[in-house]
Amino acid sequence: MQQRLEEVQRATASAVEAALADLPPGDLTDAMRYAATGGKRVRAFLVLESARLFGVEDLSAMPVAVAVELLHAYSLVHDDLPAMDDDDLRRGQPTCHIRWTEATAILAGDALQTQAFALLSNPVIGPAEARIALVARLAEASGARGMVWGQAQDIAAETAGAPLDLAAIEALQHAKTGALIRFSATAGAIMGGADPAPLEDYARNLGLAFQIADDILDVTASAEQTGKRTGKDEAAGKATFVSLLGLEEARARAAERVARAEAALERYGDRAGNLRALARFVIHRQT
Ligand code: IPE
Ligand code: IPE
Ligand code: MG
Ligand code: MG
Ligand code: MG
Repeated sequence: MQQRLEEVQRATASAVEAALADLPPGDLTDAMRYAATGGKRVRAFLVLESARLFGVEDLSAMPVAVAVELLHAYSLVHDDLPAMDDDDLRRGQPTCHIRWTEATAILAGDALQTQAFALLSNPVIGPAEARIALVARLAEASGARGMVWGQAQDIAAETAGAPLDLAAIEALQHAKTGALIRFSATAGAIMGGADPAPLEDYARNLGLAFQIADDILDVTASAEQTGKRTGKDEAAGKATFVSLLGLEEARARAAERVARAEAALERYGDRAGNLRALARFVIHRQT
């Protein structure tokens, strides 16, 4: 899995560069490239590995992998803004609004998002029906019922009178992090004309495990290790599994989610080995 992840990281890096190659020179384009560089590329990995399950090759699936990574990059640029999490470090570098200006960061996020949808129109992905389905699913996953809704709940929880309960935190995380992960892990089934339900089940559990791990790292890891400021969630009054249940119980919940994610892949047998290994990776990762 590690080898395949590194291969995906390399291939995604060049495809991201190509996708942003002929934009007008200037701060906006530079900021977009900067924000789209680096990262673990977990979402690209999910797109490419789910595609493989249905015989869809990397060449066809790559524009989808890049689209979701650009969408994700936009979400991080906006997440780091002073009005949101107010962060100055991302992927080991100054955040986009620190490196440039707030206005440029906002606009770079906007343009990364539209560029993501443009990529989904590429005929190399497959038949028009599949591409239209991907457009609709990415819009749903990232919009007012998906990631953006989750981000709104995340910010609202900072100033809520009473702490969120487990169900509310789960709904928040299911949307803010889970929705894009679900889009990514089901993209292969959409491209392959297959039923996305088993992958949806996998991704639902993986997404929750992923965000619990992110919340645990905020408490246990250093900025050197993660490439972003840590120890911030508690101070900001974020509603997380860690804030509600403590570290030990949060770890147990994440492990339980990983087991459920792995179980959801049973019907794919050995071909889903990399997806199973990724589920274990998300809770053992150090960044
Ligand atoms: C960070 O996502 C934001 C969350 C949804 C928790 P990643 O941990 O995937 O960030 P990169 O892309 O590897 O930097
Ligand atoms: C970010 O969650 C989720 C999105 C960007 C949609 P966090 O705020 O926990 O992510 P980090 O910790 O800043 O990467
Ligand atoms: Mg945030
Ligand atoms: Mg943040
Ligand atoms: Mg976090």
